[in-house]
Amino acid sequence: MKLFQHDHFPHVTGNRVSLRQILDTDLDDLMEISFYDAVQAQTVQQAAEMQAKINQDYLDGNSIHWGIVDHSTNTIVGTCGYYRGLDRGEGELGCVLLSKYYGQGYMTEGMSLAIEFGLNHMGLKRIWAATSQQNGPAIKLLERLNFVKIADTAEDEIEYELRPVINQYHSMK
Ligand SMILES: CC(C)(COP(=O)(O)OP(=O)(O)OC[C@H]1O[C@@H](n2cnc3c(N)ncnc32)[C@H](O)[C@@H]1OP(=O)(O)O)[C@@H](O)C(=O)NCCC(=O)NCCS
Repeated sequence: MKLFQHDHFPHVTGNRVSLRQILDTDLDDLMEISFYDAVQAQTVQQAAEMQAKINQDYLDGNSIHWGIVDHSTNTIVGTCGYYRGLDRGEGELGCVLLSKYYGQGYMTEGMSLAIEFGLNHMGLKRIWAATSQQNGPAIKLLERLNFVKIADTAEDEIEYELRPVINQYHSMK
């Protein structure tokens, strides 16, 4: 499914943060959170190779991966995006913050922007997220965003699904 335009990566603007495409010049600062297929990059070169795959996945319509930019410093504090399910009109939402930015509300706003974009611009019919039973901060984040637990899956994984409150994400436009 081709959900995105090749020449226009979606930029989503909020009050305190925006979502934008990650550039090679960002990668040095993002080593701690540079992953592809759950493997962490060990060098900036590896991170660049992973970013090239991420860019191709976007062009193929298989995923979208944003950097979350803090407006006050113009730096990326973390990433979020949709990584699976787009071929079915659904989206698995994932996210990770650089640890020095934990506990400041950045991800709540970043994920809210991604949800609004997913529902209102990508037309996703369902948004879900998976984490582990032990991941308290992720569970708190998902519940704050109106996700509800729908399944205990393999190992200790749990799956959450968004239950959008009517108009909640329309008001963010
Ligand atoms: C999951 C993860 C993103 C959550 O990070 P987080 O810092 O708790 O989330 P937020 O950025 O939304 O910050 C929310 C916290 O900041 C607090 N906060 C402080 N200032 C705030 C402000 N100005 N606005 C909003 N919240 C603020 C909130 O009260 C909340 O704290 P609490 O959870 O103790 O109540 C982070 O732990 C992470 O990157 N983990 C590794 C990757 C991962 O597990 N991903 C999940 C996949 S589903």
